[in-house]
Amino acid sequence: MKINVTVNDEQLEMEVGYDEFLVEALRRYGFNSVKRGCDTGCCGLCTIWINDQPTLSCSSLAVRANNQKITTIEGLQEEATDFAKVLVKEGAEQCGFCSPGFIMTILAMKRELKNPTEEEIIHYLTGNLCRCTGYLGQLRAVKKYMGVV
Ligand code: FES
Ligand code: FES
Repeated sequence: MKINVTVNDEQLEMEVGYDEFLVEALRRYGFNSVKRGCDTGCCGLCTIWINDQPTLSCSSLAVRANNQKITTIEGLQEEATDFAKVLVKEGAEQCGFCSPGFIMTILAMKRELKNPTEEEIIHYLTGNLCRCTGYLGQLRAVKKYMGVV
């Protein structure tokens, strides 16, 4: 079926299957920053925004995105690069596998939480798993980026 979506501020008509998840549909249309990890809603790697809310694209049917606004890293390049630089500076990026979903969650948090506590940051990030960093470097980078160091 056809759905109409706004992806990164551009109108797009997408042909999607009734049982297709957004991660597949978006990648098929060239939004390759959207990655697939666990495919079971556990790792956070596939995080995109739907109507500015962080959402797991591996668990969201594409048909339900009809007439909705979708944002991927392709639409947030400048901010994503700024945050990635902080990550690198804090030694918080190792294999980088978790970064696409992690960055989408951080950029959403920056919009949503003003001056968050460490506890609030950790709570916001519970859905984004990283197998390499032990999270401390990431936490340092996030606090720095959020200006709450
Ligand atoms: S791929 Fe979606 S949560 Fe892991
Ligand atoms: S840096 Fe390797 S999974 Fe996060």
